[in-house]
Amino acid sequence: MSNLSFSEIVHTRRSVRVYHPTDYDPAAVTKSLELAVLAPNSSNMQLWEFYRISSAEIKSQVAEACLSQNAAKTAQEFVVIVVRPDLWKSRAQANAQHVQNDVKSNKKNFTGMSRLQYYQKIMPLLYNNDGLGIRGLFKKIYVTLKGISNPIVREVTGADIRVVVHKSAALAAQTFMLSMVAEGHDTCPMEGFDSKRMNKILNLPCKAEVNMIISCGKRLPEGVYGERFRIPLEEVIFQR
Ligand SMILES: Cc1cc2nc3c(=O)[nH]c(=O)nc-3n(C[C@H](O)[C@H](O)[C@H](O)COP(=O)(O)O)c2cc1C
Repeated sequence: MSNLSFSEIVHTRRSVRVYHPTDYDPAAVTKSLELAVLAPNSSNMQLWEFYRISSAEIKSQVAEACLSQNAAKTAQEFVVIVVRPDLWKSRAQANAQHVQNDVKSNKKNFTGMSRLQYYQKIMPLLYNNDGLGIRGLFKKIYVTLKGISNPIVREVTGADIRVVVHKSAALAAQTFMLSMVAEGHDTCPMEGFDSKRMNKILNLPCKAEVNMIISCGKRLPEGVYGERFRIPLEEVIFQR
């Protein structure tokens, strides 16, 4: 564990493409995953899973599915972040149960009841989509009409839900990568991979999708490709 400040952690984190062959502590991943699940996520539905890949055999399959790119070839371990929109029912039930327990122990009846309805009524409305997109189409028509007179959330289709779950998973990914730096380790997030092959390697159900594959290890100096480059702040930060 390092003693870096938050700002130092952010400045130290780089995408690393070549890792030390032996220096590595898997406990850094254990700890960082415990923190990753604390990331903010849409409606607290937690429609994510994290697969640790450390066996030599599966690591080489994953590296191949990552197109044998440098960031994958020398990884000590991979963390594969997977989104599971298909688990919406059980996650909504778990949240509803949590609200009920909360109400019992804190006697917060008013907010408790509306939070309960949120998980029992709104979540099924949003997440229960059919493969053909028919429900999504009806929901879209409804929000478009309702939105003429009132502000309303317009992202209600199955395709919109895909974006929702990937957004939340990416926040967990970032929490994980920053924590890895705090633990004296490095990472590289990857979206350059064969999604079909990855689903097969992990034996995932068809509605699950790999959000990001994160290679883990400790950097070698040649593992960081050059100075950091960012577009000047005045070109990306605006005030209205
Ligand atoms: C969603 C996502 C996907 C990425 N995919 C890859 C990848 O497949 N291979 C790779 O070498 N780097 C990948 N990167 C790393 C970026 O290239 C890197 O973050 C960017 O160049 C900025 O450099 P820095 O992370 O060192 O600040 C990815 C980053 C993100 C956030």
